[in-house]
Amino acid sequence: MKRNKFYVTTPIYYVNDAPHIGHAYTTILADVLARFHRALGDDTFFLTGLDEHGQKVQQAAEKRGLAPKQHCDDLAPRFSDLWKTLGISNDDFIRTTEARHVSVVQAILQKVHANGDIYQKEYEGLYSVAEERFITEKEAESGQFREVKTLKEKNYFFKMSKHQDRLIKYIEDNPGFIRPEHRKNEMLGFLRQPLGDLCISRPKARLSWGIEIPFDRDYVTYVWFDALINYISAIGYMADEDKFKRFWPAVHLIGKDILTTHSIYWTTMLFSLDLPLPEAIFAHGWWLMGESKMSKSLGNVVRPLDLIEQHGVDAVRYYLMSEMNLGSDANFTPENFIKRYNSDLANDFGNLLNRVSGLIAKNHGGIIPEAGTPSSADEEVVVTGRALGPKVEALIRDYKVDEALNEIMNLIRQVNKYMEAQAPWKLAKTDLPAAGRVLYTATEALRLSAVLLKAVMPTKVATVLEILGVADSGLSWGELKSGVLLPAFPPLFPRIEVEKKV
Ligand code: MSP
Repeated sequence: MKRNKFYVTTPIYYVNDAPHIGHAYTTILADVLARFHRALGDDTFFLTGLDEHGQKVQQAAEKRGLAPKQHCDDLAPRFSDLWKTLGISNDDFIRTTEARHVSVVQAILQKVHANGDIYQKEYEGLYSVAEERFITEKEAESGQFREVKTLKEKNYFFKMSKHQDRLIKYIEDNPGFIRPEHRKNEMLGFLRQPLGDLCISRPKARLSWGIEIPFDRDYVTYVWFDALINYISAIGYMADEDKFKRFWPAVHLIGKDILTTHSIYWTTMLFSLDLPLPEAIFAHGWWLMGESKMSKSLGNVVRPLDLIEQHGVDAVRYYLMSEMNLGSDANFTPENFIKRYNSDLANDFGNLLNRVSGLIAKNHGGIIPEAGTPSSADEEVVVTGRALGPKVEALIRDYKVDEALNEIMNLIRQVNKYMEAQAPWKLAKTDLPAAGRVLYTATEALRLSAVLLKAVMPTKVATVLEILGVADSGLSWGELKSGVLLPAFPPLFPRIEVEKKV
């Protein structure tokens, strides 16, 4: 049987930025999807990396008195180290200054030029220095662009407009291509206006830190034309065709602010190269602090490392994945974090684990009891448990990580109620095997939930499964082994106590 394949990417982050929760969110989301798909047996490839060219990098390097490449080498570990700390399982980390990328960008420029999709012209228009691109009158009026000036320059243009009709048809014919649905409609709305051509060069006299245009050495290429190509240069386009064919097309996870570059610039570039379009472009919302976007310039960023230090990596991963609903913005507050942690991880999951293991220790000699023949009450838990794996798999294949987590927590909540109703601590006094059966059922539900939570909380779950003596178990009901001695262990998710202000 042919294996499914799954190729997932994050945006490549600007090397100048200090990584914050917004960057961590997309990367953890990609990691969770990659881990799930690997566990499902899919041939998986997970790419992230850094965007290292352009004016801002050049200026920042100048300020520090460093050559731009040295500046990038200095800053790159801020991201790669954070990903290690966050348990990110990326298969590759691409930097756009690497030779393997530069050579592909240049070969693509040659190819697109040769096929007639690049031409030169003199253009006078409004240019946003901050955004590093020409903008339209309408964009300038929106007030969202900084450092706008009139610029007259000879440049190279990519014939984006030529592919407009084909792109509209493609988006309409493939409803799952741009997700969520409202983002697809936003792009179709944008495409109702005539699409201009894309200026893809910058004269070296103005900007030298970029990839040189092979057919005109006086220019470097526009940073977005360069950056988007990372998604194919990293997997061997024009260098390792087998690898390229094995993984392309990709699922691109991006923030909503870079939807146009991905669904219009990138797709038309792919059309011109005669390559298949991405499998999906998924635009998530923003993490907000109060009403505003979290961003360096606003000075309201939450630093992932601070949170990790306080609450641990897995709690941070769980929070980010459960709190952001598919495609909408989410509000980050320390209070929300604590609320979510205490209710889901400390109360629901952690308490259940403490409770069952405590009762097993007290009444059953610390040994996992026999499963026995399920009663009708046990059967209700078994039914939910058996249905959970396929349900979660379907949700994950549809990028609905928050809903998948909610389903898992629903099983845990059901089991907490079942424990209350069955009261195995009382039952032990009259019918010890029946009490054992209840505890087996509850522990098995915990094990199954833990297996499904592995992609989100790899470290904690590994500990839970080790405690239960089933480190490599899977998703079939009943893999928990009776007769295994449970070791003593400290609480895995201690409650966060909030000091009350007096
Ligand atoms: N370098 C480009 C991407 C090139 S991809 C070929 C870039 N980099 S970035 O570092 O500025 O932003 C990367 C991603 O972080 C974007 O998807 C953006 O949406 C995301 N976020 C930045 N701030 C964010 C929040 N506050 N919340 C969620 N994500 C946000 O753009």
